[in-house]
Amino acid sequence: MKFGHFDDVNKEYVITSPRTPLPWINYLGCEDFFSLKSNTCGGYSFYKDAKLLRLTRYRYNNVPLDSNGLYYFIKDGDTVWNPGWMPTKTELDDYKCRHGLGYSVFEGKKNGISAVLTDFVPMGTACEVNKLTLTNESDEKKDFTLFSYVEFCLWNAMDDMTNFQRNFSTGEVEIHGSTIYHKTEYRERRNHYAIFSVNTDIDGFDTDRDSFLGAYGENRAPEVVMTGKAKNSVASGWAPVGSHQINISLAPGESRDLVFVLGYVENKKDEKWEGLNKVNRKPAEAMLTKFDTTEKADQALADLKAYWNGLLSHFTVSSSEEKLDRMVNIWHQYQCMVTFNMSRSASYFESGIGRGMGFRDSCQDLLGFVHLIPDRARQRILDIASTQFEDGSAYHQYQPLTKKGNADIGSGFNDDPLWLIAGTAAYIKETGDYSILDEITPYDNDASKATDFMEHLRRSFNYTVNHLGPHGLPLIGRADWNDCLNLNCFSEEPGESFQTFGPSEGPNAESVFIAGMFVKYGKDYAAICRHRGLEEEAKEAEKQIEKMEQTVLDAGWDGEWYLRAYDHYKHKVGSKECEEGKIFIEPQGFCVIAEIGLKDGYCLKAMESVEKHLDTKYGIVLLQPCYTRYHVELGEITSYPGGYKENAGIFCHNNPWISIAETVVGRGNRAWQVYTRTCPAYIEDISEIHRTEPYVYSQMIAGKDAPNFGEAKNSWLTGTAAWTFLDVSQYILGIRPDYDGLVVDPCIPASLDGFSAKRDFRGVTYHITVKNPNGAEKGVASMTVDGTPVEGNMIPFDGSKKEVQVEVVMG
Ligand code: BGC
Ligand code: NOJ
Repeated sequence: MKFGHFDDVNKEYVITSPRTPLPWINYLGCEDFFSLKSNTCGGYSFYKDAKLLRLTRYRYNNVPLDSNGLYYFIKDGDTVWNPGWMPTKTELDDYKCRHGLGYSVFEGKKNGISAVLTDFVPMGTACEVNKLTLTNESDEKKDFTLFSYVEFCLWNAMDDMTNFQRNFSTGEVEIHGSTIYHKTEYRERRNHYAIFSVNTDIDGFDTDRDSFLGAYGENRAPEVVMTGKAKNSVASGWAPVGSHQINISLAPGESRDLVFVLGYVENKKDEKWEGLNKVNRKPAEAMLTKFDTTEKADQALADLKAYWNGLLSHFTVSSSEEKLDRMVNIWHQYQCMVTFNMSRSASYFESGIGRGMGFRDSCQDLLGFVHLIPDRARQRILDIASTQFEDGSAYHQYQPLTKKGNADIGSGFNDDPLWLIAGTAAYIKETGDYSILDEITPYDNDASKATDFMEHLRRSFNYTVNHLGPHGLPLIGRADWNDCLNLNCFSEEPGESFQTFGPSEGPNAESVFIAGMFVKYGKDYAAICRHRGLEEEAKEAEKQIEKMEQTVLDAGWDGEWYLRAYDHYKHKVGSKECEEGKIFIEPQGFCVIAEIGLKDGYCLKAMESVEKHLDTKYGIVLLQPCYTRYHVELGEITSYPGGYKENAGIFCHNNPWISIAETVVGRGNRAWQVYTRTCPAYIEDISEIHRTEPYVYSQMIAGKDAPNFGEAKNSWLTGTAAWTFLDVSQYILGIRPDYDGLVVDPCIPASLDGFSAKRDFRGVTYHITVKNPNGAEKGVASMTVDGTPVEGNMIPFDGSKKEVQVEVVMG
């Protein structure tokens, strides 16, 4: 069952029923100001950091679900309704929500009035603009009242939810004309405040929540709206809100546009505004003049659309597979940009408080967006590297506002350092910019401890070399990619040790997955050394890599698949000898991507085992058989009921690893099958089962052991975004940047007779046509570049050309 449809021309998903199984959201904002926006206008806004500078209040896990947001109420006689249905839930005569690239449009109709609300965050300004067009579609004159409404958050979202003894007495506002200033904290800091304004005279306002809602009131039926009369309340403590009343009168056929702005305003750094406690209104007024007419708002929206169209034009594909084109040209890349902006901080499943930017997460996200915004990728790499410790290990997370490592979580995830090499290699392959290696980059954000960036990579590589376990495999530390595989927990008290590390952290447990990563990204490290003229170092690295490959084959192979790990007691994890959890997905993906034992048939065998033991109709589960009880020596992974999350859920993130691995062994049909099984556009028809947004990936789909097999959770902020885009663009379509040029190496289903693609690469545009006349799954029989036949399948980079025509015939 579907709840809407894709509109590829406008690059939108159009939701046609407000009762989606879960809130289906969009992200507004691509720079510093962000709003999460659900299909019924729920959500919240923040500036740079969802924890520290939150403008509006949201109640996660609320009842009713998703019932706070930036709302517009229309009171037309006795009928009160919202263009986005919530929070009144008044049945609409017509409802649509169009989630587009950085904007959302809500089209609601009721009793002859049409409301079209266009919400977006413009480029270059820290605000959300809401353009509301009201039209009288009836034959009679319409007199009605419009109320806007938003509830402010007192900035620090954690404190806002917990410190009521203080917070009920700090709230302050000012009202000037049509602009409501939310200035809590300003008394003390005198540097930032929020505004909520509209470009017309108003007929009343409210800024105190209890006055607006009424005693024991609720968003569904605010007293002010129900009575149709604002109280002009001025908040003092308690809960500051912003609401405007505007009386509207429309002749038949007449329309009226209003432009509302919710903005974040900061005094300039050196400007300490001395107007006692009064806000410095100048910067707010300057912001508001940018959007004070419909034309200006329309222009800002047009500029935003042009920005997105420009971004998405760097990689496009055209094929007979409509859904493939839709995902590659729009939604994969869009989700990659959102994960760039948010990492794992703020979604409808991540509160914006608990987690900042993940070290490994952000490094992996880079793989998906580096071609879109290489400059920002460069900065991101250096920011991430600045949270590394001198021994090569790293803070697992950092806070986006301060860019400082999060000491509460600390370090100890032994895969982290290698992801820095992964992200950097992707950056260099994309841009050819080796100068990043010379950047002086601190450790632990301490400028007195800094080296060039190359040294950071060296310490990343050596971190693994220096932390090997009893079998010569990498020590896992607190966990590797699988945060829940906590093999160094050995408390005798069930439940006690999981996620408590420190003194109980054992030195023994080893990860075959990290071994795969080490081989894969170690090769990149060696290549980077070689490009830098460090031949000896490159050779030494290669020696370590070869040794690790052998170690995996000797101690990490279980007969039909790669083992997952050894626990603290040196017991095998992910082996046929285990009672449960006999086979895991991660090492199958990464050891094959790293080509460990490829020519001796190990890789193909591992892929066959995945298909045999882990496949389901909704995707590949993380492990089998699921853990049916808690195992203290394995940690959090066994705390989940079977089929959920890391305990045998379909963890979408590592499905593309398998798809990529299948391209390594050359099985295009299977790579495609794995790709399409979890791909949003391909599973749109089962939205009632899948339940999360059908235009983006979720982190997890319940596996076959769960009662709700096929149901997804944790949409939007997942490494799946980057990895699936990498899979389909670089391995299935096979257009892959490399150090010295662009490789074209498709591995597609035999039924696809070819495709064409446009790829911008280092300032040159490549027009690539791939033909597959004989139904091959992999292999380039011939390639011409601007009509000249080329040996192999790499187009050496030549920056003197601006446009290049490439023809590839598979076979
Ligand atoms: C989840 C993991 C996640 C981790 C982050 C765990 O509870 O299962 O998916 O990576 O938390 O700390
Ligand atoms: C989600 C986390 O963000 C990611 O870092 C981790 O690798 C996966 N969960 C698997 O545990």
